[in-house]
Amino acid sequence: MTRRSGKILVVDDDPAICIVIGEALKRQGHIVRTVGSIAERRAAMLPFAPDVLITDVMLPDGDGLDDVGAILAEAPDLRVIILSAQNTLNTAVRATGQGAFEYLPKPFDLNELVRAVAEALSASPDAPAPESGGESAGDELPLIGRSPQMQEVYRTIARVVGNDLNILVLGESGTGKELVAEAIHGLGPRRARPFVAINMAAIPRELIEAELFGYEKGAFTGAAARSAGKFEQAEGGTLFLDEIGDMPMDAQTRLLRVLQSGEVTSVGGTRPVRVDVRIIAATNQDLPALIAEGRFREDLFYRLNVVPIRLPALRERVGDVPLLARHFLDRAAQSGLPRKTLSAEAAALLERYDWPGNVRELQNLMKRLTVLTRDQEIQIQHLRQVLPLADLPGVVPGAGAADLREAVRRWAREQLAVGAPHAPDDLHERLLAVIEPVLLGETLAALDGNQIRAAAMLGMNRNTLRKKLTHYDIDPTMPLRER
Ligand SMILES: Nc1ncnc2c1ncn2[C@@H]1O[C@H](COP(=O)(O)OP(=O)(O)OP(=O)(O)O)[C@@H](O)[C@H]1O
Ligand SMILES: [Mg+2]
Repeated sequence: MTRRSGKILVVDDDPAICIVIGEALKRQGHIVRTVGSIAERRAAMLPFAPDVLITDVMLPDGDGLDDVGAILAEAPDLRVIILSAQNTLNTAVRATGQGAFEYLPKPFDLNELVRAVAEALSASPDAPAPESGGESAGDELPLIGRSPQMQEVYRTIARVVGNDLNILVLGESGTGKELVAEAIHGLGPRRARPFVAINMAAIPRELIEAELFGYEKGAFTGAAARSAGKFEQAEGGTLFLDEIGDMPMDAQTRLLRVLQSGEVTSVGGTRPVRVDVRIIAATNQDLPALIAEGRFREDLFYRLNVVPIRLPALRERVGDVPLLARHFLDRAAQSGLPRKTLSAEAAALLERYDWPGNVRELQNLMKRLTVLTRDQEIQIQHLRQVLPLADLPGVVPGAGAADLREAVRRWAREQLAVGAPHAPDDLHERLLAVIEPVLLGETLAALDGNQIRAAAMLGMNRNTLRKKLTHYDIDPTMPLRER
């Protein structure tokens, strides 16, 4: 890429951001002008005639994205880079829909911005302009998350909603693969047509071809009448091929032929029919490994994998966990369940769990807590009842073991101090009598007095627990925080 310098107009109401961006771009040899509002931006456009416009979205006098389409209509060679702290999928899609060249969520990386400007300046001015008239997808955002990993996903989605490229969505179970497929369909020009999903792992192998391509009457035993396949049902819309890694080889061969020719022949049929369907495939399997084992066709992989979208595991973006958790509590409340809130400590604790079932596990947990928790606010002790403690570093017994050891050491030295009335002969028992009731009491308090769960967590037989409670005179139903 040849380096070109150009005129850059920077619009941000935060003077610090203007200075930082301005300095960085001037150092690259660009001519920079900075303004702080939409009105100033409008006034500067004609006289300054920038090559690149870098603009914030939330500006004091309005939404900076609203008239980007209009600006571009008047200055079609202009390249627009959107900066936004409202880093949602909607912003990314609106930015792309308005014809923006690049969208950078805040906080942005200065190097990335400098690179984006260089790319904008070298991009050919006759690059196809995306359709103008960016639309918002309503208030309900399909995908929740503001982590850098999700921003990357949003940007890819925004780039593919307007075209028909084949997409391969990758990610562990429960990371939102189907949701991404629905978002791509729902935000793009095919949204008025059907979104049809088929799960390769859920259909008997011998029926997959009939399901996908349809069958004629009498094509096989039991085929009493002609039946339309998923391709036909999805005509004009999107076909979501879920768990593609589980597709049998012969069906793969047939699918490849359909993708190459754009025509479907039903099972038992002779006449190929043209189909207009966008393909989005998904898998949680390692397709290159399946290819190496001879269980997946390499040519099909390349056909499907035109644009890969890799969804991060929830543990890779734990910063999004509180946001998602509260979103699911809201959703539960909207569906008629009691409205619950999440304490800050509980939210922080959720970030420390590693979520093997990803977003789906978090969603189920929030639903369960909504139903099970009697208090209005979900707190740490409620989480302890439903999450495996061992998976929560920091709250596992033993995290404060050093303090505990130190306390025992001090206690033992006191007991053994020279000058004590007489040598003890029950030191061990006396130590237990000090610490055991504390442990039992705290455990019961954390579990709302549930002796079955307490016994399980203490690793103790229920009868043993009951005997000890009697021995120490502990009332299990009473919160024992004071003890
Ligand atoms: N980013 C997200 N924001 C909000 N909800 C999400 C998000 N990701 C996933 N979900 C929710 O989590 C659940 C699981 O998502 P989805 O079914 O799309 O996962 P998947 O990757 O297809 O999983 P599997 O591989 O098990 O089929 C769904 O109920 C979905 O609505
Ligand atoms: Mg799925």
